[in-house]
Order: sequence, then C-alpha cells, then structure tokens
Amino acid sequence: MIFMFVSSFLINVKKEWYKKLFNASKNGIAIFTASFIFHYFFPSITLYDLYNPFLLIILMISTLLYEILTMLFVFIVVTIEKRKFDVNSFISAVTSTKSAYLTVFLGIINVVLFYYTNLIGVALFTFLIYFIRPALQYRYIFDNELSTYTTFILHILKQMDPITYGHSERVKYWTILMAKKMKLPQSEIRQLSQAASWHDVGKIEIPLNIIDKPSKLTDEEYALMKSHPEVGYQLVKEMHFFKKFLPVIRCHHEKIDGTGYPMGLKGEEIPMHARIMAITDAFDAMTYDRSYRQGMPLKDAVEELLRYSGTQFDENLVKVFIEALKDKFGDNYEKYTKELLSEVS
Ligand SMILES: [Fe+2]
Repeated sequence: MIFMFVSSFLINVKKEWYKKLFNASKNGIAIFTASFIFHYFFPSITLYDLYNPFLLIILMISTLLYEILTMLFVFIVVTIEKRKFDVNSFISAVTSTKSAYLTVFLGIINVVLFYYTNLIGVALFTFLIYFIRPALQYRYIFDNELSTYTTFILHILKQMDPITYGHSERVKYWTILMAKKMKLPQSEIRQLSQAASWHDVGKIEIPLNIIDKPSKLTDEEYALMKSHPEVGYQLVKEMHFFKKFLPVIRCHHEKIDGTGYPMGLKGEEIPMHARIMAITDAFDAMTYDRSYRQGMPLKDAVEELLRYSGTQFDENLVKVFIEALKDKFGDNYEKYTKELLSEVS
C-alpha cells in the first residue's frame, strides 16, 4: 500500500499536487482493500498454495476489486466535477477497467515467479516487460496516428472538395447518433465515425462540377458518379490505415433488395457498417440544402426512409435510426422542422 501510494505520487510529476494526492490515495485505498480480502483467505502462502486453484480465484477477485474501486473513485470525482451522471464516461470507465485487467495476469505471473525464483525471476520478468511494452502500446500509438492522419487528410479534402467534406461531417454526426442508440462499444463507434469521414473518398476522382451540378446528370455523368464507391475502394485498399473502413467505402450504396451498386449485394451480404452508412448518408443527402435546391423537411426524409425500408434500407436499422432521432428531437417526428438541423450543420 505504501509502495502504491509513494509510486503514484512520483508518477506524472507535472500534475497538480491535489490530483497526485487523489491518485495516490485512491490507489492506496484500493490496494489496501484488495490485499485485505486476499489476506483474509490466505494469511500466509506456502509453495503448496500455488497449486491451489482457490488461490487463483481469490487473486482474480481481489485484483478485480482493486480495478473496480479505482475506476469508481475516478468516476465519482468526474461526476461531482460535472455535476451530472454521464453514462458515456461510465461506459468508458468500465472499458478501461477491462483493459487494466490485463495487468492482473502480469501480476499473477510475478507472484508465481516470486515464489519459485524469488526476486531474480521478478526482476527478469520486469526487464522483459520493459522491452515488450512498446509492442503492447503499438496499437494505441497506431490508433492515435490514424486520427492524426485522418485530421490532416480531411483538412486537405475540405479545401479541395468542401461539398463532400461537409456532407461527410454531417453523415458522421448522424452515424454517431445511431451507433450510440445501438449501444455499440466505444471502439466501434469511433471506427464508424471515422468510416463516415471516408465513405465518399472515391469522389476525389469526380470533377467538382458534376458533384454539385444543379441540373440533372447526363447518363455518362451519372455512371461516373456511381463509380465512386469502387474507385474509393481501389484507391485505398492497399493502405493498412483504411482496412477497417473498406466495407463502408465500397458498399454504402448497396441496397437490401440487391439493386444497389457496385456489386448488387443483397440483405445481410452487405456489411452492417455499410447498411448503417446507407441510411445516414441518404438522410443527409435528402435533408441538406444545396446551392440550387432546398433540402427536404426532416419528417419527409423520415417517411422516405420508412418507404424504402426493406427494399433499399435495412428495416431494423431504419427503426433504430428513427428511435435515435426521437431521443434527440422528441417523440413526434411529424413535427420535425429544418431548424433542428442547426447543430448538425
Ligand atoms: Fe457515396
């Protein structure tokens, strides 16, 4: 407990003293409670105990208790600071508890090593972890890199094609709204929101005057326009960064009845993320004002979604989207006006 207290005080030297004190105390209290439970069942351990499965169970329980307690302390403080119960921060707290539980296994390995080899094994293992850690952190660094790249390339896209950029940002808004309603895990919501940014990436190959053409497209122009999912797919398919978004980039214009493009996939053959994006993409296309035409009132767009649900759109996902809209704007969608969109723009 003393070790936890002192070491957490020494970590993050730059933090304010009261934050350090809070961290040190929460770790101290949590480790005290966890070790109290552990020693209640195992006042002393012999080598023989290492073969006792009950030891493992108690270790798991007491360390889980430690993780839950530290998570709870942080959550309580955040709630007091924000003066409201924030479900999202609760979910992310639970998620981080899950990943922190990995350390439990490292801890158990250390316990075993300690009893077999004394400090030498623990020291060697710690040394090893020191070198393995960068590899473990790779995923985190990679994800961070990705959002930096995303921001950077989106900035360029914004300058080159402000129409597609604006559209993608609004689609991102609707997609996040819907993904939250579906109670998808945080990581998937993030993936979907990034996919929304990139779903029309193929349009960079289409001349701007076609993208924003006020009059009806000619057959040739329409064919060119329809090529953007495949063009986008071919453009980024070799890039590791885009792997997760490929289904959305390629399939967001597929229709449930198989009449969509580019592949004419049917029903569940269309990846779920693409089926989500088909709805949010169409919803923005219908409701947003273009320089040459007024967007539809929201209620009409909802009715269009309903009209084509089961043929163009996934029936169940349309229901979820409408539920999400109701949560956001009120139960009666018949009253939805364009004014509601100010936040989205
Ligand atoms: Fe598209």
